[in-house]
Amino acid sequence: MKKYTCASFFAGVGGIDLGFEKTNRFKTNYANEFDQYPAETFELNFPDIKVDVRDIHEVKESELPDFDVLLAGFPCQAFSIAGYRQGFDDEKGRGELFFELTRIIEAKKPRVCFFENVKNLVGHDNGNTFRVICKQLEILGYKYTYQVLNAMYYGNVAQNRERIYIVAFKNEEDYEKFHWPLSTPLTNTVRDIIDFQNSVDPKYYYTEGKYKGDIYSQLIETMKDDDHNNPAIYQWRRKYVRKNKSGVVPTLTANQGEGGHNVCLIFTDDNRIRKMTPRECFNTQGFPKNFRLPESMSESRLYKQAGNSVCVSVIERIAEQIAAAMD
Ligand SMILES: C[S@@+](CC[C@H](N)C(=O)[O-])C[C@H]1O[C@@H](n2cnc3c(N)ncnc32)[C@H](O)[C@@H]1O
Repeated sequence: MKKYTCASFFAGVGGIDLGFEKTNRFKTNYANEFDQYPAETFELNFPDIKVDVRDIHEVKESELPDFDVLLAGFPCQAFSIAGYRQGFDDEKGRGELFFELTRIIEAKKPRVCFFENVKNLVGHDNGNTFRVICKQLEILGYKYTYQVLNAMYYGNVAQNRERIYIVAFKNEEDYEKFHWPLSTPLTNTVRDIIDFQNSVDPKYYYTEGKYKGDIYSQLIETMKDDDHNNPAIYQWRRKYVRKNKSGVVPTLTANQGEGGHNVCLIFTDDNRIRKMTPRECFNTQGFPKNFRLPESMSESRLYKQAGNSVCVSVIERIAEQIAAAMD
């Protein structure tokens, strides 16, 4: 069966591309990402793609190949409640990145555009930011639909990650045929993504005296009562330990890569405390076990890349629906 071609912007490590390609109905033929480190991870997993590492502002529309679907998990800092709360007026200009996409859409007229962003996009700046995005899509002649989906219920992965997905269609007929995936029960647990049983490299463990202050004693005091049958995920919050009672991993974010104690913590079956490994963070985003992480890449970069990425299994389910609408 013919595969639809995709061009990927703000591609990161390629989580969106992977979700689309897993359906066997799409193939990425161009990717842009200006950070060389996620680009390296991308290339390791998509060996026939040489990532264009220029700033998107420098990418001319005329240089791009033709493609059916535009993919873009555009940077969320400008919209995130955790970020600057400035939207399109962000002093660093990040909000304007959306207009780089509209420039490309106008020139290339892809049949479908797929966007992913933080849940707060809709509410940002009293709804003005999202209104601008919708208006731009209308001006370009696209019919769009959007939903906030939680990875727990739409990707069967034990992470509480709510993200907004926008799908815009050039043809009204495709738009009419598109249906969002339905929710599914969460049958996977944290044990499917985190290894509580086996030892990992000693560097991941928290032990007495390893860190300054009384972090360890506080951690052990709270975590020692953890229920091994139903393990919780913990976070160090500057001065105290937070237990996530929902039994899933809280939303992974890019700041896991900033060092310190930002990575989620677990109490292992042999009663030790450790942080999640980068591989476990990728598992938490629904990446398959055979997704390759560059061996020489620093841990902090890998944590950041995982947090910045997407839940692959949610993307795959939406992509299946997009293929059905396009066929
Ligand atoms: C939220 S992440 C997207 C991650 C991606 N969806 C994935 O699966 O890994 C946004 C990405 O946009 C990239 N980026 C930000 N500004 C850019 C620019 N001006 N040109 C090209 N890439 C940019 C960042 O380096 C970052 O990797």
